[in-house]
Amino acid sequence: MNPTQQHPRALLGAGPTPLHRAKGLREDASLLLKRDDLTGFGLAGNKARPLEFLMADALARGCDVVVTGGAPASNFVGACAHAAFVTGLACEVLVASGPATSVPLQLARACDALVRHTECDRSLIDEAVDKRAGELQAQGHRPYAVPRGGATAVGALGFADAAFEVRAQLDDLGIDPNRATIVLPVGSGASLAGFMAGTAAMELNWRVVGVSVSRPADQMAAQVMILSAACSALMGTSPAPSGTFALVDRAENDNAQDGHGGGAPLMRASEGILLDPHYGVPAFDVAMELPATDREPVVLWQTGGLPAAIEFLGVSHSIVMGRS
Ligand SMILES: Cc1ncc(COP(=O)(O)O)c(C=O)c1O
Repeated sequence: MNPTQQHPRALLGAGPTPLHRAKGLREDASLLLKRDDLTGFGLAGNKARPLEFLMADALARGCDVVVTGGAPASNFVGACAHAAFVTGLACEVLVASGPATSVPLQLARACDALVRHTECDRSLIDEAVDKRAGELQAQGHRPYAVPRGGATAVGALGFADAAFEVRAQLDDLGIDPNRATIVLPVGSGASLAGFMAGTAAMELNWRVVGVSVSRPADQMAAQVMILSAACSALMGTSPAPSGTFALVDRAENDNAQDGHGGGAPLMRASEGILLDPHYGVPAFDVAMELPATDREPVVLWQTGGLPAAIEFLGVSHSIVMGRS
């Protein structure tokens, strides 16, 4: 049984997202793409998953306004404002210092979110979100505070469910899940935390490789363990033992989030997807380096990142996968 099904969920996406072999990238069919760029909810990509649980939780608690925050180019803030809009909740977005506009901020404004620019560094935005939620509460509102990336135990349920989803798809392809390697880009750590909680709930031993793009790997690993255990507690399942995932440190790419770009070359291959410079390109690079065969494949989680991919197309920092 999938324990995430006991939790309220506001359906946003149109999952399950496809899982398919990427023969144009690895002719031996050893690479599979998990297409969370196709979750079917606006530009949210992977972030539709946590938002389904977060919005449902906000509604279940009788909240009337969602407060979140992030960097100006944060995919999550646009997706969160969009999710609040369609579920009938007001939304405030606190923006860390950086460029004045971006596709996610334009999306948030189009969804009637109140977008407030701050002088905060991105690392301090969660405190500002809590403070603003406190002010709104004092004014008689019922705020629902969502930290960067939706990194709460409730948000992590989205990727606990995703672990069940991809396991069933591997089964359908006749691939033993325990022989697969899953590669996930890691920002806030919410996705990896949930994925590990789902993995532990299923008692699976697949290899999980996170690609940490914004924080040093050891710091991120500790955070992921805490969040993952909180997610398991919410599901009433055993937590993931330590050492059951690996983290590759790619934090040096982080300048892309602030609007400077990661510097990856424009590339033509053959799968028809766009990789954003912040998450997609580093995860792709790691996935291509890992040994794999058709029976022991690498599954690259293509998380989306379309706003950043679009913004960086003009300066050649996104990877276009098209003709070979
Ligand atoms: C496109 C994309 N991929 C990956 C991630 C990383 O997910 P997480 O923050 O759950 O680690 C994000 C986070 O916003 C994202 O927008």
